[in-house]
Amino acid sequence: TRRVRTRDLLAAKERGERWAMLTSYDQYTAAIFDQAGIPVLLVGDSAANNVFGYETTVPVTVEDLLPLVRAVVRATKQTLVVGDLPFGSYEEGPTQALRTAVRFMKEGGCHAVKLEGGRRFAAQIAAITGAGIPVMAHIGFTPQREHTIGGYRVQGRGEAAADVLADAQAVVEAGAFSVVLEMVPGEVAKRVTHEVPIPTVGIGAGPDTDAQVLVWQDMAGLRGGRAPRFVKRYADLAGVLTDATRRYADEVRDGQFPAAEHTF
Ligand code: KIV
Ligand code: NA
Repeated sequence: TRRVRTRDLLAAKERGERWAMLTSYDQYTAAIFDQAGIPVLLVGDSAANNVFGYETTVPVTVEDLLPLVRAVVRATKQTLVVGDLPFGSYEEGPTQALRTAVRFMKEGGCHAVKLEGGRRFAAQIAAITGAGIPVMAHIGFTPQREHTIGGYRVQGRGEAAADVLADAQAVVEAGAFSVVLEMVPGEVAKRVTHEVPIPTVGIGAGPDTDAQVLVWQDMAGLRGGRAPRFVKRYADLAGVLTDATRRYADEVRDGQFPAAEHTF
């Protein structure tokens, strides 16, 4: 077995084969997802919400993310690992973007980077891909701009569909190997997927993209509370862990744990 390459993802699109992507931020989940055959893992800036407990992705830094990228890379054998460039690490221009991307590759050891933006950051994507670093773009709803967009809102409805298409074309021209479409109408995602030669990865973008991505804690039900409409929970890890924790605490209180077999 070898690592998945960007060209494998291109070939999958040509064959019409769909694939699933997840986020990961630590060695145990990374190893499990790698073994379970997830071809692409994203060390997302969503670590802001899902690891560090921030309300938005805005505060998370390159220094926060690089150790998580290293952990995921070390724990995987087959997965292509994508490192997510955080807010503030690429907006200044192509030079800053390339410098940050190089840090992710050299210090993080990942195999590609991702950044949010279509036409707006095409120059950054071109600079990074020009240096030999694969870029996954991210268009539609882009969480790093949520204060400008005004919250989590579906993008590309009605007339605005043309903007999503133009962004998709721009990232293709800039050399992106793939593009995330977040919270766009299913019909728009379907059109983009047919019109671009690179794999589209949907999140809240309906069933017609080439791939899907979810935050792993959403997929596995580790995060409690109300989930967004686009999330499907495949397990109840919050319930499993709550139950295990209660039983452990109960057994300690009762003197059942540790037992003779746990004692030297
Ligand atoms: O950071 C993240 O988790 C993401 C995906 C949801 C695409 O950008
Ligand atoms: Na992200």
